[in-house]
Amino acid sequence: MTDTGAGAGGSLDPAVTVIVLAAGAGTRMKSTRAKVLHEIAGRPLIAHALLAVRGVGAATTVAVVGHGREQVSAAIADLDLGVIEAIQDEQRGTGHAVQIALDALGEVPDGPPLDGTVLVTYGDVPLLTSATLADLLEDHRTTGQSVTILTAELDDPDGYGRIVRDADGFVVAIREDQDAADGERAICEVNSGVLAVDAKFLRDALARLAPSNAQGELYLTDIVGLAVEDGLPVGAHVLEDVWQTQGVNDRAQLAQLGRELNRRLTTQWMSEGVTIVDPNTTWIDSAVVLAPDVTLHPGTQLLGATVVASGAAIGPDTTLRNVEVGADATIVRTHASDAVVGAGATIGPFAYLRPGTEVGADGKIGTFVETKNAQLGAGAKVPHLSYVGDAEIGEGANVGAGTIVANYDGVSKHRTKVGRHARTGSNNVFVAPVTIGDGAYTGGGTVVREDVPPGALATSAGQQRTMEGWVPANRAGTAAAAAAHDAVASGADVASEQKDDAGE
Ligand code: UD1
Ligand code: CA
Repeated sequence: MTDTGAGAGGSLDPAVTVIVLAAGAGTRMKSTRAKVLHEIAGRPLIAHALLAVRGVGAATTVAVVGHGREQVSAAIADLDLGVIEAIQDEQRGTGHAVQIALDALGEVPDGPPLDGTVLVTYGDVPLLTSATLADLLEDHRTTGQSVTILTAELDDPDGYGRIVRDADGFVVAIREDQDAADGERAICEVNSGVLAVDAKFLRDALARLAPSNAQGELYLTDIVGLAVEDGLPVGAHVLEDVWQTQGVNDRAQLAQLGRELNRRLTTQWMSEGVTIVDPNTTWIDSAVVLAPDVTLHPGTQLLGATVVASGAAIGPDTTLRNVEVGADATIVRTHASDAVVGAGATIGPFAYLRPGTEVGADGKIGTFVETKNAQLGAGAKVPHLSYVGDAEIGEGANVGAGTIVANYDGVSKHRTKVGRHARTGSNNVFVAPVTIGDGAYTGGGTVVREDVPPGALATSAGQQRTMEGWVPANRAGTAAAAAAHDAVASGADVASEQKDDAGE
C-alpha cells in the first residue's frame, strides 16, 4: 500500500506551495521528545504528514520547525523529500509560523514566485490523506475562492476554532474557542487547521494580522475575516471522515489515532486478500508489505519494513520487525528482527531471531531457539533448545537439541561453520572458531573445539564408567534401591533397552 495522490510519481506543480506547521511544543505530551516525533504505525507524526503532502505533487514544501528542532530536522532529512525548513524560534501563533515560512522561501535562490496557491497543513495530523489534500486544492481551484478551509462537523467541537457562517450559509469568520461567544461555542463545524489560500492574498493578509485575542497570538485563522472584509470569496470544504482532521495533542489521542490508523491498514490489507483472524489484536506498520493469501493470527505485530510473501502464516503472538518472510513459511509465537525467513520454512513456537538471521527455504528454527547473525542453508534445521550465533549451517544439516554455539571468547566474536548435511548430536557445544565438515557427525554431549573433517564422527565425552550394584550397596532402603532390586528379581535386562536419541 502506498500513499497515492494527484502528483505521486508525476511532474511537480509549480503553482502549489505547501507549508507544514510543526514548531509547537506539544506540552500536553509531557515528553522530552518533540510531539511530531512520536510515532503511530511505525512512523513519526511528521512523516505521516509529509508523505501525505508528497502525494499532492507540490513543487515546494516548507516545514516550520521550532521545538526540538534538531531532532525534528533530522527526521525530516531522513525522509529525503526535498522539504525546505523554516525556523520559528518563538511560537507566536499559526499566522506568525506561516509568515516565517514565506520569509524562508524569499531567501531561497530562485525560490518560487509565490503567485499560486499555498496549502497549509499541520505536522501533528497523521491520518490526513493525499487524496483529501488534492480534493481540497481541486475545490479551491474550481470555485476560485481566495481561501478554502478544510472543515468537519464534530459532536464535541470543544477546543477547536468554529466556522462562523452568515444567514445565507457563507463562511464569514473562524472564531477560536477561547475567543468565542456562547452562541458561537455551540457551532459544531470546526476548522481542521488545513486550508488552501491564494498566495498574493495570504501575503497581504499576514501583514494585517494583530495579536488582539485571548492568546495574544497571530492567528492564521483571522485571514478568513480579512478576506470577507475585502469582499473576497471564502469557502469551506467539509470532510465527512472526521478522523482525518484530528490532531494529536496528548498520549491518549496518540493511542486513539494509532488504533484508527491500524484499523484502516488492517481493513485495507483484508481488501487486498490478506486473512486477519483478529484485526483488533493485529498491528501493521504503514511501510509493511503483504501478499494476498497471507494469514495473520491474533496477537501479531508486523513492524518496520517487514515484507510477507503469499501463503505465509504468522502468529499467534508474534512480533516481526524488518523481517522478510518467504512464501508458505510458518512463524508461530516468535520474536524476530532484521531477519530473512525462506520460503516454506517453519519458525517457533518460542523462537527468538535476532539481526542477521537467515533461514533457508524449508529450513527450521524450532522451540526455544535463539539465533543471531546465523545463516542456515536450504532445509537446515535447529529444532530444539539452542543458541546459534555468528554461524553458517549448511544445507540439509541438523543441529541436535540443546546445542550452544560458544561464539564469544570474552573479547571477540568468532564464526562457526557446520557443513552440508552434517548431523550433530544433542547437548553439543561448538567452541568458535570451529568448522564441522560436510556430512560429518558429532556424538551426544560433544564439546567441539577442533575442526571436524567431512564425514568424520567426533566425540569428546570420556568412556562411560558403570559400577554395577552401586545403589543397593550405597543407598540401601531408598526407593531407588527397591526399584533396582525388583528389576533384578523380575529379570529385566537393562542392556537390551534401546537408548533414546533426543532430537531429530
Ligand atoms: C488551531 C487553529 C484552530 C483549529 C485547530 C485545529 C489557529 C489560530 N487555530 O488551533 O482554528 O481548530 O488548530 O487543530 O490557527 N504551530 C506552529 N507555530 C506556532 C503555533 C502553532 O508551528 O507559533 C503549529 C503547531 O505545532 C501545530 C499547529 O501549528 O502543529 C496548530 O497549533 P496549535 O497551537 O495546536 O493550534 P490550536 O490552538 O489547536
Ligand atoms: Ca492543536
